[in-house]
Amino acid sequence: MNVHTVSTQPFSDQKPGTSGLRKQVPVFQQRHYLENFIQAIFNSLEDYQGKTLVLGGDGRYYNRTAIQTILKMAVANGVGRVLVGRGGILSTPAASCIIRKTRAFGGIILSASHNPGGPEGDFGVKFNTSNGGPAPEKVTSAIFEASKTIQGYKILEAPDIDLDTLLITQLNETTVEVIDPVADYADLMQSLFDFDRIRDVLTSGNFRLCMDPLHAVTGPYAHFLLEERLGAAPGSVQNGTPLEDFGGGHPDPNLVYAHDLVELMFGDNAPDFGAASDGDGDRNMVLGRKFFVTPSDSLAVLAANAHLVPGYKDGLAGVARSMPTSAAVDRVAEKLGINCYETPTGWKFFGNLLDAGQATLCGEESFGTGSNHVREKDGLWAILFWLNILAVRQQSVEDIVRDHWQTYGRNYYSRHDYEGIDSANANQLMEGLRSQLARLPGQQLGNYEVDYADDFNYTDPVDGSVSKNQGIRIGFTDGSRIVFRLSGTGTQGATLRLYLESYEPDSSQHGADPQDALAEFIALAEEVAQIRQYTGMNAPTVIT
Ligand code: G6P
Ligand code: ZN
Repeated sequence: MNVHTVSTQPFSDQKPGTSGLRKQVPVFQQRHYLENFIQAIFNSLEDYQGKTLVLGGDGRYYNRTAIQTILKMAVANGVGRVLVGRGGILSTPAASCIIRKTRAFGGIILSASHNPGGPEGDFGVKFNTSNGGPAPEKVTSAIFEASKTIQGYKILEAPDIDLDTLLITQLNETTVEVIDPVADYADLMQSLFDFDRIRDVLTSGNFRLCMDPLHAVTGPYAHFLLEERLGAAPGSVQNGTPLEDFGGGHPDPNLVYAHDLVELMFGDNAPDFGAASDGDGDRNMVLGRKFFVTPSDSLAVLAANAHLVPGYKDGLAGVARSMPTSAAVDRVAEKLGINCYETPTGWKFFGNLLDAGQATLCGEESFGTGSNHVREKDGLWAILFWLNILAVRQQSVEDIVRDHWQTYGRNYYSRHDYEGIDSANANQLMEGLRSQLARLPGQQLGNYEVDYADDFNYTDPVDGSVSKNQGIRIGFTDGSRIVFRLSGTGTQGATLRLYLESYEPDSSQHGADPQDALAEFIALAEEVAQIRQYTGMNAPTVIT
């Protein structure tokens, strides 16, 4: 079949962000836009010809169109084998699992994660490397550089491939295999968790669960694993059919956007366990009956109970968390006598620690938890981990978390988001903070003394690479913190994230609402950053 080289001109805005190239759908629909970026990926790589590429996405609008284009470009660029999920579907963690299992040179995952989809929504392209993880900065920079000089792309002239049947097709030198998106991932989960024990609980008649994939990619995975393999009652998975626009919702598992689930879990007759995941299946939220588990606490609980789970029973090499994530897991690490690493926001920063065997569990406040089983965070993995712990401990979610606080103390935590603000104002706010950093240490703010104030810099302990300006931290002498960061995942304007944390060792004080427990820090944040003035908002748009 014929391979064409189509001449093209560079676009100047193809710099991948925190998690790939993410833009509104109409941007991707511009002539040659997607093709340029895909060709830039191939141009930036060496030594991929004849090797395997994994391809799939979260099923959002434009997924199928993009898959057809990428398949034809992969053939034209000499990829040896393309493994594509049936229906164009692969969750991000499943793609990572398949890249590792098949020793692929990488994967292209089509997703804008938790951002809304549909013709006016967002679309995205992520490139993962052979370890199954998001491309590190040196790779994404090379892709960006390649995108700036591109003059043409290669594409096969061929009819569309049937994505809905498990088939193997030969196109020129390339084998295209449409694979079951769930099977390999499900086997991996079964190798880590005690499925017999979980099944006993789920079929006991005394335990109800509700999993809400928010009409996104985890639907088929959750139906298969929870209902078919583990015996949860049919209907335990709600909103489980992936839709191109996620049913008009915002596929982000938090207390605001997972409203059906939250209503159920905080209503009368709530199930024992509730969970949700995001657009591409890497995020998770865990709820007990009328009880929310913060992602930071979830990471700490998983670390403290890992010995109860077959895949982790021999202990953890270390743990890692992103800088704005609470220090709850640090206390567990201390007790276990293992290292706890603090990295910048973005799962890619865990890659080296996982590859080097220095960390086993990782987590982020942004509803991400995962381990060395793949190189992405993994929503269903976290949910199964919790179910395994519940099955062994035979306690409620709330009791497990309260026990945890009793042992380790409670890190009160909250994140306030100011979405859709003007980028120039957001940058000014951050500059305003930067200009105060030098003089803050030693100062008294309200009842608290500033211990340190800095813009977080990270030196990767494995390869020595340095990442600067990763968020402004103001730490107080009692261990409390205020952190300010601008989101790296939005597509319109800027989002300011304010992270608040305080530590309470006294278990008689563990019952407060975090917004009350953190009220003084919320006021201090306003005082130092002038949030109202710069954002023009009186209150955050989302509080988690
Ligand atoms: C994506 C990444 C996460 C990261 C998050 C931060 O989801 O995969 O690793 O924590 O973005 O998003 P933000 O909007 O805060 O930059
Ligand atoms: Zn995601």
